[in-house]
Amino acid sequence: MTALLAGLPAQEPDKIIRLMSMFAADDRPGKIDLGVGVYRTETGETPILKAVKTAEARLLDAQLTKGYTALSGDPAFHRAMADLVLGNSVPQGQIAALATPGGTGAVRQGLEMAIRANPDMTLWLSAPTWPNHPAIAAAMDVPVRTYRYYDPATGIADLSAMLDDLAQAKTGDVVLLHGCCHNPSGADLSRDAWEEVARLCGRLGLLPMVDLAYQGFGDGLEADTAGLRHLATAVPEMLVAVSGSKNFGLYRDRVGILLACCPDGATRDRVAGTMDWLNRLSYAFPPDHGARVVTTILTDPDLRQSWESELDAMRLRLIQMRQALSAELGRITGTDRFEKLRHQRGMFSLLGATPDQVAALRTDHGVYMVGDSRINLAGLTIETVPSAAAAIAAAMT
Ligand SMILES: Cc1ncc(COP(=O)(O)O)c(C=O)c1O
Repeated sequence: MTALLAGLPAQEPDKIIRLMSMFAADDRPGKIDLGVGVYRTETGETPILKAVKTAEARLLDAQLTKGYTALSGDPAFHRAMADLVLGNSVPQGQIAALATPGGTGAVRQGLEMAIRANPDMTLWLSAPTWPNHPAIAAAMDVPVRTYRYYDPATGIADLSAMLDDLAQAKTGDVVLLHGCCHNPSGADLSRDAWEEVARLCGRLGLLPMVDLAYQGFGDGLEADTAGLRHLATAVPEMLVAVSGSKNFGLYRDRVGILLACCPDGATRDRVAGTMDWLNRLSYAFPPDHGARVVTTILTDPDLRQSWESELDAMRLRLIQMRQALSAELGRITGTDRFEKLRHQRGMFSLLGATPDQVAALRTDHGVYMVGDSRINLAGLTIETVPSAAAAIAAAMT
């Protein structure tokens, strides 16, 4: 008897999922979870947004069929999302769109398309980046190079190092950029930096692929897309992988979309055909429920207003936690070492702790974070900031 399956190479368990089970098994009452990347309220919940509940109730009532959609998903979802993300930066007739299972699905399908357009491509990733980026590329045998991005000394993006490294890219290479709220550093590109990156992509003929998983979590819905919208006007072709997991709180419903900005209608049609085919060979039709909820919210003025104010509240809470933690750490340590937390944006920042310090924070203080010392600011509350700061200061000094 052959035992083929037993010969499968062992895969590393997901680090964050392992961290979640360690946290669950910890019975200390004051434990704090800064690990997993979901938004939490001041009371520690990841609630269903009111606009989502209402849209779901409407759908339940009005939906008459669960028949298949199109392979690329619902055209109304495409329009609503293209409008949310790209605004007027690209003419409608030049945008191809593909509904995907979450932003992860969009990243995957974007890379599947890019490698078919140019089998010689290299994928350029920021150092550091979301660990799924290199993991997906490795699974697809896409060659990866990294460009310097986050400067731990200053807590901001190092544009000149980034441009120096990307200057080595060759025509047709793909540059993956975080649209806003860089994961894991929280350090975003300034408007001037986006313009420089756009010029470089144009000059070298690089294909930018923007990963947008946190629109609305940084400085607001419009501000968070200003950079990528500029890029869209400055280069002939661009991909955007969008997630609806965080800003609509639809994590498990798997809402995502891949947008391709094309130079003309003929290219758009060619890309759309490739997109249909990619979905068909992967899972045929994309998930529809969450996408339809999002479309309902974005196209109904009252629901949209309700969603935008809930999103604003999430954004402001993240900023409040950044300010509180940075102030408390400044007070305890008497240094401006953690000042950067206040200027960074989104759910994540890197504390700059060593792996030993991260382990000590977990075992000695019950404060859980990812091994690279990435913290999720939404894991804090006004009540827990003092104890988290005390633990961080104790472990890191
Ligand atoms: C940078 C980045 N891209 C994409 C995603 C995709 O999320 P999802 O597949 O859950 O929509 C995430 C989620 O953590 C992320 O942080």
